[in-house]
Amino acid sequence: MIDLDNISNQQTEFIKTENHIPVYQDEFWTAKQRQMSSLHEISYRACFKGELPHFFIDKYSQEGDVIYDPFAGRGTTAVQASLMGRRFISNDINPLSAILAEPRTNPPSFAAVAKRLEQIPLDLELPPEDDQDLLPFYHPETLQELKALRYYLQVKRASGTEDILDRWIRMVATNRLTGHSSGFFSYYTMPPNLAVSPERQKKINLKYSHKGFLYKDVKALILKKTKSLLKDKPENWPGLGGQFLHSDAAQTYAIADNSVKLIITSPPFLDQVQYVKDNWLRCWFNHLDADQIEKRITHLSSPEKWSQAMGQIFREFYRVLQPGGMGAFEVGEVRKGKVYLEDLVLPELIKADLVPQALLINSQEFSKTANIWGVKNNLKGTNTNRIILFQKE
Ligand SMILES: C[S@@+](CC[C@H](N)C(=O)[O-])C[C@H]1O[C@@H](n2cnc3c(N)ncnc32)[C@H](O)[C@@H]1O
Repeated sequence: MIDLDNISNQQTEFIKTENHIPVYQDEFWTAKQRQMSSLHEISYRACFKGELPHFFIDKYSQEGDVIYDPFAGRGTTAVQASLMGRRFISNDINPLSAILAEPRTNPPSFAAVAKRLEQIPLDLELPPEDDQDLLPFYHPETLQELKALRYYLQVKRASGTEDILDRWIRMVATNRLTGHSSGFFSYYTMPPNLAVSPERQKKINLKYSHKGFLYKDVKALILKKTKSLLKDKPENWPGLGGQFLHSDAAQTYAIADNSVKLIITSPPFLDQVQYVKDNWLRCWFNHLDADQIEKRITHLSSPEKWSQAMGQIFREFYRVLQPGGMGAFEVGEVRKGKVYLEDLVLPELIKADLVPQALLINSQEFSKTANIWGVKNNLKGTNTNRIILFQKE
């Protein structure tokens, strides 16, 4: 058993045992938020902050251990593990995940990125095949530069000569595709981690025409974002490298038995987020087949089916975890507070022979509530993370 008394500082409130596990509520990592590395600053639907993996990596692993995230998204766990001198395995069924994560687990220098950008020709004339869907988002000259960059990256990838500098540029460009500030390639649009449909964008353009339809300099914006991402890069990079997979989290055959020290992850919450639809422009830029990815993703509206799917994944966790290895599984409340995912997860963990240790509720608005029902009510709509901590004994 782990020592739960050491889970946090003195102010941690032990609330009640529910489902036979203790529930703790505290501001576990809020205070540290501004200290996290600029390397995390890439948007992604439903991502967690670097503070979450930092907290568990610090508590439950040593340098050199393998940290695994089966639903990696933008790769917050892999980047944080690298920053802390751990090895990692980063898996996501969507190959976009590795495109966003891998370059930040071994970041190049600013000077090298700038030099490579200079060498990339962006004045190529390419056929107007997808332009109808893309012109609602981009000034025609920006679109031409973007298509030329996409073509360059595709040729490099297909010829097997894409290197870390190309992959860094691909990652930054993918991140800059849409957003509502001047730092993005697009016209004014919805938040950066969500691309709306071309039809919806046409409506946004009508509504926000006063913001202008400006040309954006693709290379200049990539450089600007590169500079801000690399701001906190340690002089001596502590990363030990790792493995990127895009398997179903229930079938990760590339991971050896008993090889993982710590799992840190957050699954899709039922069918709440449209991971593929919202990323359609990112898929286009990277020549990914969004329809094929969509078919494979776990997107289930039925709580029963979702629990079963998690059950299969927990059996896989049992296989890959070392004896004594730990897991931190972040869930949330869905259906406007009517479904608490931890209630669905706990029985499945137990069936998979994993031992739930605690439910940690990280809350920015820490309230001293005496029972778990009160906590659930109090935390509605506040900024919380709910993490089930478990162990393979
Ligand atoms: C909540 S997000 C993870 C966000 C991540 N914690 C981060 O900080 O970016 C869930 C991820 O699970 C992925 N996913 C969905 N179904 C999957 C499956 N069956 N196996 C592996 N990954 C899956 C989605 O593509 C999505 O990126």
